[in-house]
This record gives sequence, structure tokens and C-alpha cells, in this order.
Amino acid sequence: MTRSKFLGFGHYVPTKVVTNDDLAKLFDTSDEWIQQRTGIKERRFIEHSGIGASDLAVPAVKMACENAGVGVDSIDAIIFATLSPDFNFPGSGCFLGDKLGLPGVPALDVRNQCSGFLYSLQIADAWIRCGMYRRVAVVGGEVHSTGLDFTDAGRDVAVLFGDGAACALLGPTEDGEEPGVLDVEIHADGSGAKELWLEAPASAYMPRLTKEMIDERKIWPAMNGKQVFRWATKKMPEVMLSVLERNGLSMSDIDLLVPHQANKRINEFVCQKLEFPAEKVVHNIERYGNTTAASIPLGLSEAIQQGRVSSGDTVLMAAFGSGFTWGAALVRL
Ligand SMILES: CC(C)(COP(=O)(O)OP(=O)(O)OC[C@H]1O[C@@H](n2cnc3c(N)ncnc32)[C@H](O)[C@@H]1OP(=O)(O)O)[C@@H](O)C(=O)NCCC(=O)NCCS
Repeated sequence: MTRSKFLGFGHYVPTKVVTNDDLAKLFDTSDEWIQQRTGIKERRFIEHSGIGASDLAVPAVKMACENAGVGVDSIDAIIFATLSPDFNFPGSGCFLGDKLGLPGVPALDVRNQCSGFLYSLQIADAWIRCGMYRRVAVVGGEVHSTGLDFTDAGRDVAVLFGDGAACALLGPTEDGEEPGVLDVEIHADGSGAKELWLEAPASAYMPRLTKEMIDERKIWPAMNGKQVFRWATKKMPEVMLSVLERNGLSMSDIDLLVPHQANKRINEFVCQKLEFPAEKVVHNIERYGNTTAASIPLGLSEAIQQGRVSSGDTVLMAAFGSGFTWGAALVRL
């Protein structure tokens, strides 16, 4: 039976480095507070207005294709995970397809925030398994920096996020080849939707945007950090163990864990709970902050580049985020 596998990874981050000290010039915070609570030292922001998530994705996709040894023109489907699409509509996947010169290639946007890459991976895996497409570019890309409140009122959220993009190119296994993507498990619970959300502009309101909404700060992301922390540290280990158990594996079979990079403390807590060694965990939050849908493929792309994993290694990925949504994926490289 045809299954799916990773053919190549690529990533791209903007060149502008924004340190914690840079943020401390804009609002009341400190390098010490940010590092202690989150592990973040710096993040990347787009260099100027006019750069969207699809622009960051272009070099990431090209790098993934180069690493896979195939042309960009071999891509026959795009899945673009983002919570910060270039525009409200159409989706960033359409813009990306045009920028890559892929007219006619279907482009699906996935709006599942920090779990977006795992949701996209499950779709790509299903498409490839059923023979629908042969080269699926699964992209995570975010431009957060244009949507954060850089004042004291928004400091809890503004310190967390960064811009970036990454791509995993997937294709079918050859005859007799072991599957690459072993399993993907995803979940959602909308009872937590308003614990981490962006309220306006909203099509649920008429008009969608008013001066009052701006004055009431509804145009900025709002987060109940403690609740998110609580849910993440419960749901991530739960889904990781669930996907492992279904595949007859345990944490000791895992060569590399690539958790979503929301907060280093969340990931440390999860690893402690599962007694998983820190040296087998990917962390790049200190350099990039939370890049939401891009964080898992960005982490894996860098880990491959650094030679931290090689062919045949078993990789576990896990995410939790707004929605609430969460999931885990088990892959053999
Ligand atoms: C956001 C987070 C780091 C805050 O840490 P915390 O220990 O919960 O901190 P609190 O919200 O209790 O705030 C503690 C104090 O720091 C202050 N504070 C908040 N943001 C601050 C900042 N950037 N700089 C300095 N002080 C800050 C608060 O105002 C509060 O002050 P007070 O005690 O005088 O009221 C933490 O809750 C977290 O990481 N949650 C998960 C968030 C997440 O993962 N989001 C993305 C999900 S995908």
C-alpha cells in the first residue's frame, strides 16, 4: 500500500533580529523576565511592510525542493498553514502558488494555529495514501510582527511571537518501502476558543470593525496565558502517548522530539513528565520565538541541516495552541 514520506525540508526567517532588549525599549519588560518565563532571547521580524507569510514561504519551498532533488514545478498540491494569512481572503496558498509559478495547482489554507502543521500533515498524508497527489508542499508560515500590540497593555503576548516559514515536501513511498509518516493524531476543543484569540475585525459583527473595537483593544490577540499553559502541559503528553501506543512504540523509541515552540517551560515540563532526555529535544524558541504553524517544520528542517537526525530515525512531533487544538505525529525519516 502506498504511504507518504518526507522528501525534503526547507525554512526561511527574515533577516531582522529583534532582541528582548529591543522590545524593552518599546514597553515595560526585560530580557530577564522574558527569558525566565519563556526561554526566548530574540525573534525575527519582517524588514518592512509589504512582506506577507507567502513571501516568507517562497524560499522555504524552494529549499525543500532543492533538498528533495526535485523541481518546484513537480509540486502538485499546496497546503498552507497560517494564522496570519497575507490577506483575509484569498488564502496565502493561492498567493504562494502564484509566486512559485504554479498556475492550476490546488492550494488549501489551514487555519489551525499552532497545530496547523500537524493538521496539514494529516491531510497531505491522506491525499498521498489515496493516490490523489504525488508532491504535496506542506507549508507553515507566519508574519506576527504586524499584528502585535507593542505597548504595556499587550506585552504578555507581544514578547512571544516571531515571523518565519518552513516547508515539508511529501511524496509517496516506493514499492516495498517503509512508510515515512506512520501516524498523525489531531484534536480540537472549542470550549477554550476565547482563551487565545483575535476578536476583531469579525464577520460575526456588523460592522466588522469599529472605533470602539480598536479602543477596547479587540484588534490585538488576547491570551489567558495560565490557562494555555495548563491545557498545553496536559494535552501534549496525552496525545504523544496516545499516538505512540497506537503504533506499539514508547518514548524510548524516539530519536528526536520536535515540539511546537510556544514556551520552553511548557516543553521542559512535558519532557520531565514523560522522562524524556533533554538532549533529544529540538529547541529553537530562544532564536525565533513562537512562529506558530512554522515552528515544527522549522525545527525539523534545522535539525536535519545540523545532522541531528538521519535516515531511519523515528521522530515525534507535538503541538498545542489556539482553538484549542492539539496533536502529535509519528514519522520515520
Ligand atoms: C505568557 C506567560 C509567559 C506568562 O507567564 P506567567 O508566569 O503566567 O505570568 P503572569 O501572566 O502570571 O504574569 C506575571 C506578572 O508579569 C507581568 N507581565 C506579563 N507580561 C510581561 C512582560 N512581557 N514583561 C514583564 N512583565 C510581564 C504581568 O503583568 C504580571 O504582573 P503582576 O504580577 O504585577 O500582575 C505564560 O503564561 C505562558 O507562557 N503561557 C502559555 C502561553 C503560550 O504558550 N501561548 C502560545 C500558545 S500556542
